[in-house]
Amino acid sequence: MSFFEITGRRRLSGRLAVQGAKNSVLPILAACILSPGECVIRNCPDLSDVTATLQILRGLGCKVRREADAVIVDASGVNGGEIPEHLMREMRSSVIFLGAILARLGQAQISYPGGCELGPRPIDLHLDALRRLGAQIWEEDGVLHCRTPGGLRGCRIHLPFPSVGATENTMLAACGSQQTTTIVGAAREPEIEDLQNFLNALGARVTGAGSDVITVQGSTRIGAAEHTVMADRIVAATYLSAVGAAGGELELTGVCPEHLSTVLDVMEEAGCVLHTEKDLICLRSNGRLNGVRPVRTAPYPGFPTDAQAVVMAALASGQGETVFEENIFRSRYRHVSELARMGADIRLTGRTAVVRGAPLRSAHVCSTDLRGGAALVIAALAAEGTSRVGELHHIDRGYDHLELKLSGLDAAIERKHA
Ligand code: UD1
Repeated sequence: MSFFEITGRRRLSGRLAVQGAKNSVLPILAACILSPGECVIRNCPDLSDVTATLQILRGLGCKVRREADAVIVDASGVNGGEIPEHLMREMRSSVIFLGAILARLGQAQISYPGGCELGPRPIDLHLDALRRLGAQIWEEDGVLHCRTPGGLRGCRIHLPFPSVGATENTMLAACGSQQTTTIVGAAREPEIEDLQNFLNALGARVTGAGSDVITVQGSTRIGAAEHTVMADRIVAATYLSAVGAAGGELELTGVCPEHLSTVLDVMEEAGCVLHTEKDLICLRSNGRLNGVRPVRTAPYPGFPTDAQAVVMAALASGQGETVFEENIFRSRYRHVSELARMGADIRLTGRTAVVRGAPLRSAHVCSTDLRGGAALVIAALAAEGTSRVGELHHIDRGYDHLELKLSGLDAAIERKHA
């Protein structure tokens, strides 16, 4: 069992290059299935979710290797459309493979992604969209069987909610049709634009990502491509929150400030001094953040649900009151009871959390999910004394060597094995 040992209230300072985005690299690796050749994906972070994705690719018949920060995927030998249950369980987002496998092979079999730490995470929007594209899908003993007997056919798809995963799955499947597909009500997250760029590099013709209407024109000319994954805006938000809470100075490079505008607004209102340039964010904090106007999570360009926990931890260690409203996932406050063990004053009612800033104290706490775990690390950096944060497998899903990056900013953090 490993855990982080963290001694808090040390000023953080330094410069950090932000890792590649988890939510970008996963669909991009799935998209490699579309290619009959060898794709090179650069700036690929070292995450357990990436390891699981590479295992899925190997299971489907791809040759995969890592060279420094690049992953090279040769999908010429794709021979099976089946993803085993243990990999589906490990990473719910593996459902994103469905569209890519259908486009390449015309049939797929995956186990149904099960229950989850953020509340129910249905995939009805994914399946509805794939059916509209001509897929036949049925469930037998928890296994989803998918076929496209008449091939995939382009059409107009209206998503009733801008689901990130359903938008990506639909884009991937639509690449396997010879007609035009229009996705109305698409998610607008920057990671979708990154996927569009990769698909176009492969030879697909995709336009509109970043807006709520995306058009995919089928093409038979899918080839191979190289791509550099965009920076992870949620990891950036995590480091900004850490330095905001502990105090100090941070220079984040390789990150687009525009993708983080709602988070930067909160940090500024909380009392941080910010300076941004094209690919750079600088933050200075006295380590005692003020309460801010209500933080309401919403689809992009709104405040990201993935940044809710880390920003909450930073404000909980400050002063003054902030109301949080979680509008994307039903149970995304599991970190709150762990933060309370460190002295955080947070009252929960349904989707609302009222946070009253208070000095935090050290404690032994457990990560409850990926971003919730990162929130506990931030609280420990801000707390008096030495804390332990356990269940690191959650954090390792999305942070590339978090402890090394934070040590580089002078944080007292160590990974230990009990
Ligand atoms: C992606 C991100 C995740 C982020 C989320 C919201 C990846 C790998 N993960 O997850 O980090 O928190 O976007 O920004 O990119 N929903 C349905 N039916 C569906 C699909 C979704 O009801 O078929 C609901 C979900 O239960 C949730 C909401 O829609 O309440 C948003 O989900 P979605 O945008 O699909 O998130 P993911 O793609 O799963």
